[in-house]
Amino acid sequence: MAMVRQSDKLKNVLYDIRGPVLEQAEKMEASGHRILRLNIGNPAPFGFEAPDAVLVDMIKNLPNAQGYSDSRGIYSARTAVVQYYQTRGIMNLDTDDVYLGNGVSEMITMSLQALCNTGDEILVPSPDYPLWTASVALSGGTPVHYLCDENNGWNPDLEDLESKITSRTKGIVVINPNNPTGAVYSRETLTKIVEIAKKHELILFADEIYEKITYDNAEMINLASLTGEDVLCLTYSGLSKAYRVAGYRSGWLAITGPNWKAESYIEGIKLLANMRMCANVPAQHAIQTALGGYQSINDLILPGGRLKAQRDLAYKKLNEIDGVSCQQAAGALYLFPKLDVEKFGIVDDERFALDLLKEQKILLSHGTAFNWGEPDHFRLVTLPAVEMLDTALDRLGEFLSGYRQ
Ligand SMILES: Cc1ncc(COP(=O)(O)O)c(C=O)c1O
Repeated sequence: MAMVRQSDKLKNVLYDIRGPVLEQAEKMEASGHRILRLNIGNPAPFGFEAPDAVLVDMIKNLPNAQGYSDSRGIYSARTAVVQYYQTRGIMNLDTDDVYLGNGVSEMITMSLQALCNTGDEILVPSPDYPLWTASVALSGGTPVHYLCDENNGWNPDLEDLESKITSRTKGIVVINPNNPTGAVYSRETLTKIVEIAKKHELILFADEIYEKITYDNAEMINLASLTGEDVLCLTYSGLSKAYRVAGYRSGWLAITGPNWKAESYIEGIKLLANMRMCANVPAQHAIQTALGGYQSINDLILPGGRLKAQRDLAYKKLNEIDGVSCQQAAGALYLFPKLDVEKFGIVDDERFALDLLKEQKILLSHGTAFNWGEPDHFRLVTLPAVEMLDTALDRLGEFLSGYRQ
């Protein structure tokens, strides 16, 4: 048989957070090493359990979840999404404009596949959650990166963003709270982004999967509460993070704004939703329960909560390491520290991550995997318990004290 090659469509598709460093970690684990995995935002393996009510609702509904559902998802869950957003100031969302997916991931790829023609440009933050860049490329579009400014709390550099708009630009991706930087954007910043979108007639893609994970009274504002009827806004969120059920694969897309101007695009999204029949039905039943009632995530993010304690410790210890500096995260589950590349002679951050893995058995993600242009950052996941983070960061400090690439 002749060699079987992957499709040319994948030529520009990069997803390095699951690349060679992870492969090396898996090899080491297979030969008996214990690796401290600080690389993926997956709450369950770190001892975070889903709220009981979410599990119970899904279990009770299993007998009713044997068939395919409406391709957009079950009505009660879509209504729950509408009602939740009403409490967040989004008053113009209709149940018909909510689509449930196998995680936000599926809705990201679906909505870009339905939109992009070859060469259409989508503005994506740098650094980004790399699925966005990869999905734009897979859909035939061109990802164009706008800078987020570390010296300005990792806020989007709006001048840079606007300067990158061309006649081919179709939309702007906004990840808030942000992965990997942990930034939570102010009302002023978000309002300016909406103004830019309105002026240039662009779609806004608001990835708000971390909307319920904020610290120190940071105010999370849903972008669609500012866009009204002026700007088409696609909002993405789901159960993976705040409800700790990443494995259930349950997320949604909510479309607001002038959708009468986007009938053809929305038909395209429906077509793709129909082609995959429906999202995992048992997990759709978890949505209504999750969104209603007491929100147990608050116990984790408020003072005394595990997530807050872990973020605080990681921030403090990282900044104590000579040659490392780090902005505090106002939200999400990550820190994106800076390395002094002169001091460590770092020219290749993937090699840095591999060297750390081999020497200290700690798995981190290198910054360029997040479409960051310089080899001077890495991403740390703040999910491990305080004791584990403490040990890991001691070992990182020890490693860096003698490191020169
Ligand atoms: C910013 C962002 N968007 C989307 C996702 C994917 O989430 P889901 O599990 O809903 O597919 C993640 C997962 O880490 C993420 O960090």
